[in-house]
Amino acid sequence: MKDTKKRSCPTAGLAIAGLIAFAACSLKPTQPNADASTQGGSSVSGGGQTGASLGGQSGTSPSTTGSPTAGSPGGGNPAGGDTNGSSVGGSPVAGSPGGGSVAGGSPVGGTATGGIPVGGTPTGGSRAGGTVTGGTPIGGTVTGGTPIGGTPTGGVGGTLTGGSRAGGSATGGAPIGGTPTGGAGGTPTGGSRAGGTATGGTPTGGTSTSSTVSTGNVPACTAPPSPPASYTIATHMTPVDAQATSLVSQMATTDKINILSGDHTTNPYATAGVAFRSLGVASLNIPNYPMRDGPRGMRNILPGDVSTCFAVAEARAASFDLDLEYQVGNLQGREMRAAKNELALAPVINTLRHPRWARAQETYGEDPVLLGEMGAAYVRGMQQPGGCAACPKHYVLNDTDNNRMQANPTVDMQTLHENYSRPFEITVKKGDPACIMVAYNLVNGTHCTENKAILGDIVRTQWGWGGFLVSDWSAAQAGHGAASMNAGLDLEMPIPSAFTTLSSDLTSGTLSSQTLTDAATRVMNARTKFNDLDATYMASTASFSLAGAQEAVDLAKKTELEGAVLLKNDGILPLGSVATTVGSGSPNAKIIAIVGPDNNLPVAPTATQNSTANFVSGLGDRGSSQVVAPHAVSYAQGLQARSGLTIKQSSDTSAASGADVVIIPVSMAHEDEGESYGGGADRQNMNLTSIHPKHWTTKPTAFIQSVAAVNPNVIVLLNVGSAVIVEDWMASAKAIIQTFYPGQEGGTALAALLFGDTNFSGKLPFTVGQNEADYPQFQNSGTAAATIDYYHGYRLFEKNAKPVRYWFGYGMSYTTYAYSNLQVCSGATIAAAGTLNVQVTVQNTGKVAGDEVVQLYIGYPNSKAPKRPVKELKAFKRVTLAAGASQNVQLSIPASDTAYWDMTNNKWTVESVAHTVLVGPSADPTKLLSATVTIQ
Ligand code: BGC
Repeated sequence: MKDTKKRSCPTAGLAIAGLIAFAACSLKPTQPNADASTQGGSSVSGGGQTGASLGGQSGTSPSTTGSPTAGSPGGGNPAGGDTNGSSVGGSPVAGSPGGGSVAGGSPVGGTATGGIPVGGTPTGGSRAGGTVTGGTPIGGTVTGGTPIGGTPTGGVGGTLTGGSRAGGSATGGAPIGGTPTGGAGGTPTGGSRAGGTATGGTPTGGTSTSSTVSTGNVPACTAPPSPPASYTIATHMTPVDAQATSLVSQMATTDKINILSGDHTTNPYATAGVAFRSLGVASLNIPNYPMRDGPRGMRNILPGDVSTCFAVAEARAASFDLDLEYQVGNLQGREMRAAKNELALAPVINTLRHPRWARAQETYGEDPVLLGEMGAAYVRGMQQPGGCAACPKHYVLNDTDNNRMQANPTVDMQTLHENYSRPFEITVKKGDPACIMVAYNLVNGTHCTENKAILGDIVRTQWGWGGFLVSDWSAAQAGHGAASMNAGLDLEMPIPSAFTTLSSDLTSGTLSSQTLTDAATRVMNARTKFNDLDATYMASTASFSLAGAQEAVDLAKKTELEGAVLLKNDGILPLGSVATTVGSGSPNAKIIAIVGPDNNLPVAPTATQNSTANFVSGLGDRGSSQVVAPHAVSYAQGLQARSGLTIKQSSDTSAASGADVVIIPVSMAHEDEGESYGGGADRQNMNLTSIHPKHWTTKPTAFIQSVAAVNPNVIVLLNVGSAVIVEDWMASAKAIIQTFYPGQEGGTALAALLFGDTNFSGKLPFTVGQNEADYPQFQNSGTAAATIDYYHGYRLFEKNAKPVRYWFGYGMSYTTYAYSNLQVCSGATIAAAGTLNVQVTVQNTGKVAGDEVVQLYIGYPNSKAPKRPVKELKAFKRVTLAAGASQNVQLSIPASDTAYWDMTNNKWTVESVAHTVLVGPSADPTKLLSATVTIQ
């Protein structure tokens, strides 16, 4: 089978006969087309605030409009909540400021969302539902307090002048715990306070995550647990292996140049089991170095090759499950090794700056910490004994595809370090990969492959990393051997083009023999450390048997079970446990319809289909990340196997009428969002109303609406790589699930989720806005320098206060979780070299078990740095909670993780100021508990 890639290839070396096979590569890449709510609830009665612990505080801009829009406070029924599944926020709008007041404190300014205020006089803003018992709350509108049990003691001393807590008409519930006794001191004139937790209702489906603050006994801090075994790096690239040094010392100059070059002596596409390889040294019994893509499983090369197709990386990012990603890397590493492959061209850890990037599905989302942690987990798993070397890619700022070989972003060093090289830095430090692949594009006017400021200065000098740097395929510039190698590039793939000059560069003195030797040593070091020259391994034959093994089937299924994100559920899910009910209220569902052009997905494509324009497998791109799976379970097959019910299918709307529930999968082809060759391109817009998916004649927006007109029980599956705007059709869907490209077991996993056998737990690894215009600039054509702004993703939406539909980190489940008792265990002040330890209590307040992803963000309200986001993710932990169970969850980061990149002094700098510690279920500012820590 032939790689159909069309690349911009070097011309040098094309005279070599063996290179005829690269003819396809001479084409330039395609330049396609143009581009509470549990409401408020709470136990407020008659306009008073019932007590509780509070969060916080004050605001420079007191909210004046809190309004109870959903649910009834207190004893209310939180069924459904809002469509965001938010459980916070119903704000009483009428009534008098009752009760609760602050005893001796001054909440001043800002927006506090749930911390433990320590004192203060509320002079502005609003606060909600809590008891301030001392200290100095600094900050904002409390939106998540659960007035349960607190005891507002009165307004003594507190002067609530700016905000108002406007009573609220809680009619259904009784105050639980708190005894509002005061509030006489304040004169609430404005502002609002926002709900708490309805304690009396019965969530009946489509339940959501809530953020609450409670009182009572605050549990003692416990030390954070030691990292699990999966955090152990098995193979370190430093120090250099003695065998590598010895082998290189025996090499002639031409041998060294050969092992730093792609194999130009044979046709790599026609050799069993090997697509790409760099050269070995026959006289030293060093074979060629075989390497394969890619990020959703091992890329297949020849007929008969099969390998496990996992849910795409974007889905696995949604799991926030580092152990799972470790297992994926580990299994794929063993598959690679069994296939006699020694270097995996994965994972992708490019920051998703814009959801339209063609290869969004291959990476782990928009957040540098999530990207880096996921990348490191994958690398650690892959590089265990029995696995192979990993090569995170594409360093750096490869985030448009149509012009990926000419893109020339202008970026300042703060933006680069904090948002774009950071995932690579984390992966290097926590995974120690053997290799990093260098991107096609330029950065600040110089190709990455010869950009010393990007390669040598950062990767080697700053990070001190000992692996080797390989060019992306034909990324190095023809004739620029010395410039590339002097900048830090070690290996050129897939054939030499820049490195054809290395010999003459040595003669002319533009390249030193030591630099060449160092590069050769780095490549050999990776090979000897992974036992590629081990005699038993070298004598073995390739095997592809792992793909069908139960272990692989189970793991592939798990990637989708944990990765699918429930975005909306108005009560239609879960389907009845034996499929005799739809949701909680619609009995006797007997017929499930799957409609639309993608009703039969996912399917494992045949070789012919894999190269058919606009063919859609539902498994993901046909670019370098494609995988030939042993099989794929379609949604119809999965649902039928699970339920035994009739599954009606139609590519038009016809099967919808008469069905009890209608599922509409919406998928995309390589031509919609796929690596830019062979028709692949960046998405042209983010909606489902025009252009995409190209194989849909009637686009999904109109299709979904017409289905809803005949059958309101619509469930939409977003079988796509990243964010789509849902505004114009979401009202026509009772449930929306971002399934991503779900892998070979996608149908089985979906059935388990829809029927509630497994609870949803996936959380978005990117932000879904309401308007595409609110995302950053996406310049995917031409060579003109595009300025990369510091802000993207939730950082941008939060800074600009743009409306978000679904926040980063958001995802619903069939239960609810309450957060309380946020504590900074390491003390109110920590040293810059110290560790920040926090603890929070998370309770499963619903009726079924579930996994929750607890997220720690740090906010910088006092920063003096030129730029800082409002907040950013620093750590996360996935916990499993039985119905009703609580867990005290510890999160820990070095204080140095709060640093910014100081462009004046060219170094990471920790600011000696008070930082905000925010913990909760997503980046939604209204859902986070907050506390303060000062770093000195
Ligand atoms: C892609 C890389 C891939 C390489 C080899 C390039 O075009 O950008 O991600 O590893 O091809 O297939």
